[in-house]
Amino acid sequence: MKKIAVIGAGTMGNGIAHTFAQNNFCVNLIDICEESLKKGLNTISKNLDRMIAKEKISLQEKNTILSNISTFTDLKNGVNDCELVVEAATENIELKLNIFSKLDTFCNQDTILASNTSSISITQIAKSTKRPDKVIGMHFMNPVPIMKLVEVIRGKDTSDTVTDQIMNLSKSISKIPVEVNDAPGFVANRILMPMINEAILTLEENISSVDGIDTVMILGMSHPMGPLFLADFIGLDVCLSILEVMYDGFNDKKYKPASLLVKMVKNNELGVKSGNGFYDYTDGIKNKKVSKRFL
Ligand SMILES: NC(=O)c1ccc[n+]([C@@H]2O[C@H](COP(=O)([O-])OP(=O)(O)OC[C@H]3O[C@@H](n4cnc5c(N)ncnc54)[C@H](O)[C@@H]3O)[C@@H](O)[C@H]2O)c1
Repeated sequence: MKKIAVIGAGTMGNGIAHTFAQNNFCVNLIDICEESLKKGLNTISKNLDRMIAKEKISLQEKNTILSNISTFTDLKNGVNDCELVVEAATENIELKLNIFSKLDTFCNQDTILASNTSSISITQIAKSTKRPDKVIGMHFMNPVPIMKLVEVIRGKDTSDTVTDQIMNLSKSISKIPVEVNDAPGFVANRILMPMINEAILTLEENISSVDGIDTVMILGMSHPMGPLFLADFIGLDVCLSILEVMYDGFNDKKYKPASLLVKMVKNNELGVKSGNGFYDYTDGIKNKKVSKRFL
């Protein structure tokens, strides 16, 4: 495989495009929003500058990586002749079903269609196409250029051949793939999201402050970052969507999203990407908030 398309230039999409481009793939980065494409390319450029500063790549390599990426707002043009499409658009089931049914008509018969969804059923996404054997989950972790894991999710109809191809492809871009079966939240988020939700409930019940809760988990459990900062980093809208899928999928109240999370998403407090979440990021770095809502 040498030519791939990535749909969505947000937090995950730009990281996925960066990673493939750095491994000499021609990447078509597609977003409905021109501004998101600009922002995505800018993030890639800044992340490459950081790699130059750490002497991991040269300026010439940065320019080659950037030249491997082309941007599109039109889906049909963007996926033309691509052997793989990795969809990383907003976590919304109707939106993803719509994208995959279009991909099925626009892409070559052999093209593999992967989704980076955090929680939505791959089997259900595959049903919106006439090639369910070639639909698979490729769940990268954030930040993509740094995190090694890819959860490779087999839908009910995903073929062995396609699974093997995606496992091998993941290894070829220096990732470590783990094969999992389709279930709400798969493995990563099924375990992570209840912890994040519980941290938000702990805050909502005023048991400790944002900093207090995060510090307990960093120092007490050796987590590299606290659950509330991690939620900001993932995006509170993404966390809410994942919990909703798990709540519906398992029909179990233990996955019910905390009302504080619902309220913050309604207020557009989405974490790092909106500049405001459990912490404040308006000046580009993580700052503690002083608010009556928190201890
Ligand atoms: N944020 C995380 O830490 C994380 C981790 C793993 C997986 N994911 C998953 O990755 C996917 C993307 O999440 P994100 O955090 O990057 O979201 P995001 O909100 O940062 O970016 C989503 C992008 O999709 C674009 N988009 C929306 N509709 C589109 C369409 N029809 N065609 C093309 N582009 C469209 C938006 O303009 C936006 O730029 C979601 O499925 C999410 O669950 C997120």
